[in-house]
Amino acid sequence: MHVILQAGSQSHALRLQLYASSPHLQVFPRSRGFCTTAEELGTLESGHKGPCLVLLSDCKVSPEDFNHHILSTFLRGYVVRMYWVEYTTSSRSELISHLNSLIQHYSEDCYQAAPVVYNGDERSFSYSQENCNGGHLLTESEASRTSSIGQSEGSVVTDHWQSLRRLEKESKKLKVRLQTYPRNFAESLADELKDIDCQLHDFSQSLYAVEVNGMYRYGLSSGSQMYLASCDREDLAKDYIARAALKLEEVAQVYGFALTKDMLAMDLGASPGAWTQFLSKHIHRVVAVDPAELREQALQSNVTHVRKLAQDATEELEAASEGKGYDMLVCDVNRHPVEAANLVSPLLPHLKAGGLLVLTLKFHGRGRDKEQKVDEIKAFQS
Ligand SMILES: C[S@@+](CC[C@H](N)C(=O)[O-])C[C@H]1O[C@@H](n2cnc3c(N)ncnc32)[C@H](O)[C@@H]1O
Repeated sequence: MHVILQAGSQSHALRLQLYASSPHLQVFPRSRGFCTTAEELGTLESGHKGPCLVLLSDCKVSPEDFNHHILSTFLRGYVVRMYWVEYTTSSRSELISHLNSLIQHYSEDCYQAAPVVYNGDERSFSYSQENCNGGHLLTESEASRTSSIGQSEGSVVTDHWQSLRRLEKESKKLKVRLQTYPRNFAESLADELKDIDCQLHDFSQSLYAVEVNGMYRYGLSSGSQMYLASCDREDLAKDYIARAALKLEEVAQVYGFALTKDMLAMDLGASPGAWTQFLSKHIHRVVAVDPAELREQALQSNVTHVRKLAQDATEELEAASEGKGYDMLVCDVNRHPVEAANLVSPLLPHLKAGGLLVLTLKFHGRGRDKEQKVDEIKAFQS
């Protein structure tokens, strides 16, 4: 099976593609069979405009596990939609006729499907029938919709599913949610497909169809496996001083660096304190270095604020580690990349072997090609 991830922006799509293409990164581990190759789809000349789609080929991970992987990592802020696409064609008539035959096939199968059971805490459904095991991720509104009917959740969902099946059988129409790219492709598809009842909420099957540059990628699968949990990035960062905090989560996960409660970090250029705040939640202690103030939310009991420039804070940094060294050195000073690197260099001996160094390189402007910037840095260094 192949899966297409739709990101919220083209730069996120590029990052997803790079992450998925790098076997040594931990975002889509090859060992777990996430994909064999990854490619961005669509015209990408403009650099940041495009369909924001990334095709992961030969995915061996189940939709349920994939959904769970997204929701339990920084990817929840990247992936807005997913399309499970088993088939490809460049012919529209072939697309329609194949989809119609798939619908026919699923109708016969699914009218006999067994009821589902709701696992409340897991926010997932699981079918009692082997050929239909699922892991539907409920959005908050769906969860409250299903549980607000006033019965125990298991019986509510079972009843709900059974009544869905009954309706499908009576009407001889499969209740399908169309997930298409572009979105308005759904309208013409709905007109051309037979025996389906298009639904946003009460559906038993998901029909995926993505059209990019005259190529159709499509598939039909159990609605219970659909990824419906796209998260608002602002919402994800709502507990933090700034969204930048999530960057550290991303870096740590990309490199498979586990943050643990026995770790010590130095945060250079820490104000207003989003990184410090994030680290203070996940590790033992943070030494935050910045002449500027830290916001109150960052001033936790396990945070020491050294109100100095990093180049003047060596003594305090040494004292705070009591000679044991740092597990992490993070630096987000708003300086030219080479200046920032020069600031960090003398402090590297304080980083433990295997420790994590995070240094932001502040490049201005949009676009993917940073060759010119690299030349600028070289010129600065010489
Ligand atoms: C982009 S902000 C850092 C944001 C921070 N990472 C956060 O999560 O809130 C850059 C900070 O670097 C600090 N800075 C610049 N040069 C510095 C230096 N040489 N030593 C320490 N801090 C420095 C500035 O005072 C500024 O607060």
